[in-house]
Amino acid sequence: MCGIFGYVNYLVDKSRGEIVDTLIEGLQKLEYRGYDSTGLAVDGDDDKAFIFRQVGKVAALRDHIEKDLRPDTDKIFSSHVGIAHTRWATHGNVTENNCHPHTSDPNNEFVVVHNGIITNFRDLRILLKGKGFKFQTDTDTECIAMLFKHIYDTNLKNGHEVDFNELMKQVLYELQGSYGLLVRSSHYPGEIVATRKGSPLLVGVKTERKMKVDFVDVEFNDDPESQFASPNSLRIPSDKTAKHSNSNKFHKSQSRAFLSEDGIPMPMEFFLSSDPSSVIEHTKKVLFLEDDDIVHIYNGELHIHRATKEKGIPATRSILTLEMELAEIMKGPYKHFMQKEIFEQPDSTFNTMRGRIDFNENVVRLGGLKDWLPTIKRASRFLMIACGTSYHSCLATRPLFEELAGVPVSLEVASDFLDRSSPVSKNDVCFFVSQSGETADSMLALQYCIEQGATTVGIVNSVGSSISRQTDCGVHVNAGPEIGVASTKAYTSQYIALVMVALSLASDSIALRNRCVSIIQGLKKIPDQIKQSLELEDQIKDICDKHLNGQKNALLLGRGYQFATALEGSLKIKEISYIHSEGVAAGELKHGVLALVDKDLPIIAIATKDSLLPKVQSAISQVTAREGRPIIIVNEGQKLQTNKKELAFIEVPENVDCLQGLINVVPLQLMSYWLAVNQGIDVDFPRNLAKSVTVE
Ligand code: F6R
Repeated sequence: MCGIFGYVNYLVDKSRGEIVDTLIEGLQKLEYRGYDSTGLAVDGDDDKAFIFRQVGKVAALRDHIEKDLRPDTDKIFSSHVGIAHTRWATHGNVTENNCHPHTSDPNNEFVVVHNGIITNFRDLRILLKGKGFKFQTDTDTECIAMLFKHIYDTNLKNGHEVDFNELMKQVLYELQGSYGLLVRSSHYPGEIVATRKGSPLLVGVKTERKMKVDFVDVEFNDDPESQFASPNSLRIPSDKTAKHSNSNKFHKSQSRAFLSEDGIPMPMEFFLSSDPSSVIEHTKKVLFLEDDDIVHIYNGELHIHRATKEKGIPATRSILTLEMELAEIMKGPYKHFMQKEIFEQPDSTFNTMRGRIDFNENVVRLGGLKDWLPTIKRASRFLMIACGTSYHSCLATRPLFEELAGVPVSLEVASDFLDRSSPVSKNDVCFFVSQSGETADSMLALQYCIEQGATTVGIVNSVGSSISRQTDCGVHVNAGPEIGVASTKAYTSQYIALVMVALSLASDSIALRNRCVSIIQGLKKIPDQIKQSLELEDQIKDICDKHLNGQKNALLLGRGYQFATALEGSLKIKEISYIHSEGVAAGELKHGVLALVDKDLPIIAIATKDSLLPKVQSAISQVTAREGRPIIIVNEGQKLQTNKKELAFIEVPENVDCLQGLINVVPLQLMSYWLAVNQGIDVDFPRNLAKSVTVE
């Protein structure tokens, strides 16, 4: 949800054209996070910034810059700071004025890009207007840029020069809400400060020479004088409390400079981003920031300071090596990322299980849970907490958790769980399921559960994400980067990861051994069976052409394990093809929904074999008795007793009841994809949506 990208070079000669290209390419990789509008700021000829903004996608910004920047593209910079943004609007309409970067004043003294929401922006606007600032936009972000200028000017008036990081710290005292923030300033040429709270941010580090350090020390602020406690006005330091930059202890920390092994400062490039996908083409060396970290980059050095004083925060940030490959985030031969990701599922589901299941011994080993299994097994209750598609993967596997662990399982939509402040105890184990690992609602729910003393387990796709770092233990689902806004391969991999967790919980049970063995053997078949289901694509296209294109509504029916499939299929259809669709528990049909059924309403019923099939069959009869004409998903060769009113059967391979949803969802993913493509919808950029919802 909004992507931010920054680029800083030191002793590396780059033309302005190359720098703009770097920013644009970074934005293109982040575009799935928001695609209302884009913008960037690069160094001008003096220390002022050039700012470019454009409504629409990154390509429109590139065209705009091509026209306006051409004459200056050859100018070489060996030290440069550029920042860029792709927007998913929260405050203010989608207009050029509201595009980031936002600036403090007509001279662009402070320029800011921001992902998140500043919740006290109205108060700050009133306060800053009172100080003479003239707002140009409707956004919450503009007040951040102005706050920088106001606090900088006030410090100066009091005779204090503050470091950029100290200034950031003073600004952060005034901000409430969530942010990933990059700031550049004409007062600090060649420097950038960045921070995060509730929005993801990482730094990629690139150099041709061998680095002396592979970690960065964190500088804790334990100077009591820097606490400015006066809640109703800005807490800008008075004469007495302000510090001079030349007495600032932070700059003395030479150990964090990136020096070559012989101690000589070396050419460096830094990439700051919401997401590793925009960094890996430059470097695989990254540092994931924690909330309240302030990054200050200058003279080829990277320093991390803390915005707050609390203890218990790790004192170093390690530079990690990403395992992601560039090819994983390219579309390859596919037209859309969503299509690519649907077709990747034979591989992605295999990767989820790789190295974790011994199919000969019928054993599951999850390294990330090993030390925590005894605690998890002792739980009095499990909570599964997630949003959207990730919630559906919880719904799909809850019955198996209840069956194999014998523990009650509460299923929670993260936002609703928080709204209720639902009671959580120390004996609860809470599972947080998330593709991005950054979803704000899930993150807040996680914080709440940590505060209540519960054990927390992350089931996460994005390595290094906030949820994976903040939970006690967990399982990475290893589906690979998911770029398509509509989640597909993450769903099937989360589903499998949860099944593996449930199996681990039953590992000591002799009574459940046969059941577990049949599930493990069922898992073995999944990649091939998904491959077979993908071969149904032509039939699905045909069904769309004959029966579904142009429809405004659809009903999806499922029961038991297949209720989750109905909900997930329905979500895919509505978010990508804009057809209003409802997933309905087949048992609920007669309690109201049946009133919608007539000969025209498209109905998709999931009637693969399991113990509930007779009941699903009776729901289908209720539909056909009212002239309804369902499309029915069945197992290969399955004979279903119907009164021949169905429009079509879709036959999928058969697996164990609790795994059948992994197969059944595939034709529905394909259906949503083709319904959207047939309408000319840009599937990877569905209207009003964005990937990774980092706002509440
Ligand atoms: C739907 C979809 C969303 C996400 C939801 C949670 O296709 O992608 O419903 O599943 O926003 O996101 P994560 O899993 O990243 O927490």
